[in-house]
Amino acid sequence: MKATLRQILKLKKEYNHLPFFDFLRDESLSARQRLEFYPCMAPFIMSFGDLNRYVMRLEPTSDAYQAMVNEHSYEDDHHWQWYLEDFIKLGFDRNQISSTEYLHFLYSDRTVVNRLLSHKLAHLIYSSSSIVRLAIIEAIEETGNVLFELIGKLAVQIEAETGLELRYCGEFHFSKESGHAMTCDHAMIAQIEMDEETRIEAIEKVNLVFVWFREWTEELLTYAKQNSNYSDEVLIPNLHKKMTLV
Ligand SMILES: [Fe+2]
Ligand SMILES: [Fe+2]
Repeated sequence: MKATLRQILKLKKEYNHLPFFDFLRDESLSARQRLEFYPCMAPFIMSFGDLNRYVMRLEPTSDAYQAMVNEHSYEDDHHWQWYLEDFIKLGFDRNQISSTEYLHFLYSDRTVVNRLLSHKLAHLIYSSSSIVRLAIIEAIEETGNVLFELIGKLAVQIEAETGLELRYCGEFHFSKESGHAMTCDHAMIAQIEMDEETRIEAIEKVNLVFVWFREWTEELLTYAKQNSNYSDEVLIPNLHKKMTLV
């Protein structure tokens, strides 16, 4: 898997310099303003649990690589609960619109890339062997690593200003992510042998993952810019006391 990992790390470096991530680094905006894109990613983040539970995971399995995929899927299948928790803490629950209007937003053209990302990834994963699935997961994890490193800094700022812990955006979530397709490091993944044909397929699919996530960041940035009249007033205090989500 060494060549595939090298390709992933090369693409990750380019991904890190996309305009959306520059927006997240823009210190002329408050931390809360930079998180204004947050509702736009709901369709993908909410679907990501299903991708892990119902698409990546295949049980029972006697395939050692699929067993690694399964193990990883348990790590990542429930993080949407923390996403919802921060959704409230960031004040997005205060929108005075009806459930129907919110559904309309979630299925509007403003979030179409987010919705299609899950479908595209499902198609890619369904059509892949377990070893290629590991490469796809690794690519997804590295895109996530870029995002979470940046929003983690925003979460630190918000906690310093308000005392509120953002568990999805911040260290709580980051610390639960191995950052890899399984609970081991790059060195171990790199040792996995791939034949030539599989390596070519894995690299093609990893390339696609980064293309699709680049499109995803473009939609998030467009949304954030359209919502530039956002309130800087944040957050509901003591939310943990009311929340039952874990
Ligand atoms: Fe996660
Ligand atoms: Fe993850």
